[in-house]
Amino acid sequence: MENKLRSVGILGTGSCLPEKALTNHDLEKMVDTSHEWIVKRTGIEQRYVADENTATSDLATKAALRALEDAKVSAEELDLIIVATLTPDMALPATACIVQKNIGAKNAAAFDLEAACSGFLYGMTVAQQFIATGMYEKVLVIGAETLSKVLDWTDRGTCILFGDGAGAAVLGPTEEGMGILSATMGADGEGGKFLFMPAGGSRMPASVETVKERLHYVKMDGSEVFKFAVRIMGKAAKEVLEKSGNSVEDIDYLVPHQANIRIINSAAKKLKMDIEKVHVNLDKVANTSAASVPIALDEAARTGKIKKGDLVVMVGFGGGLTWGANVVRWNK
Ligand code: ACO
Repeated sequence: MENKLRSVGILGTGSCLPEKALTNHDLEKMVDTSHEWIVKRTGIEQRYVADENTATSDLATKAALRALEDAKVSAEELDLIIVATLTPDMALPATACIVQKNIGAKNAAAFDLEAACSGFLYGMTVAQQFIATGMYEKVLVIGAETLSKVLDWTDRGTCILFGDGAGAAVLGPTEEGMGILSATMGADGEGGKFLFMPAGGSRMPASVETVKERLHYVKMDGSEVFKFAVRIMGKAAKEVLEKSGNSVEDIDYLVPHQANIRIINSAAKKLKMDIEKVHVNLDKVANTSAASVPIALDEAARTGKIKKGDLVVMVGFGGGLTWGANVVRWNK
């Protein structure tokens, strides 16, 4: 019996942003902040925000359809849908099941995965296992968020950082030596206290009191997350590169989680990488959490920045604390 694992590649990508852009100048009217402070400390100039009728699954569905079209794969061919999100439409059913219905992927299993901003990278690695072992042929991985719905718009320390959006990738078998060459995932639960939403789960179910005390919003210790991010981005990228048998000089394109330009610059510096090879779109879209890496990847692929044969490194970090990275030999 043949026991060899199959190579797994990205067959197509897609993304979706809400229509409404919220600029830093708009935020100046909402909290005590300034466009200059936000640009200087984060690099963000605007973010997209979903309207009241748009939920995470709506953005996820559009991104999924674009990825399927790009991959030339039909919804019926999908074996599995993974939606990485910390802002599901609701606790039950999974947002992945809603997407499955919306796109008519009647042969696909579906589940949500929560690893905050690292969710898409976790999802890719999970999908890779199913395809590599031969259990599944085609898996759709989506990172989708509407963080705007869980932000405290009176807290200038968090509300300026995030945006809404969705990104997706269809994964399937590819030729040997191409596709995902290596991956890593990690977690440090001790750091969970630095980025969390206290109420709305089983620890603190929703009540009139929890709503009054604004406990359903994202709470963050920005400087602790910042220190962690700077340390882990370079470390995770080096680890996957080594695993893949490549070095920093071999990277054609780095697609990092878009949290803060200072974090990205410091990771690039640690890796001694030319910033020209790093994809940055946080000025326009801000931090879209689990959607961040796939939106950036889709942009880079569609604009022709990533070409067949390129060595692409994706790296991200997030609440949990969690982190993930992978090295992909672009097969498309
Ligand atoms: N506008 C104006 N001033 C502000 C703002 C604001 N929006 N936010 C904070 N300040 C003030 C602070 O109150 C402080 O004032 P003080 O000195 O009078 O006390 C001063 O600016 C400096 O505050 P710091 O928190 O030290 O600012 P810092 O340079 O660290 O930037 C930031 C804060 C942008 C939040 C940064 O720490 C950061 O980006 N951290 C990482 C956050 C992150 O990436 N989170 C996402 C994780 S991914 C996920 O899973 C969702």
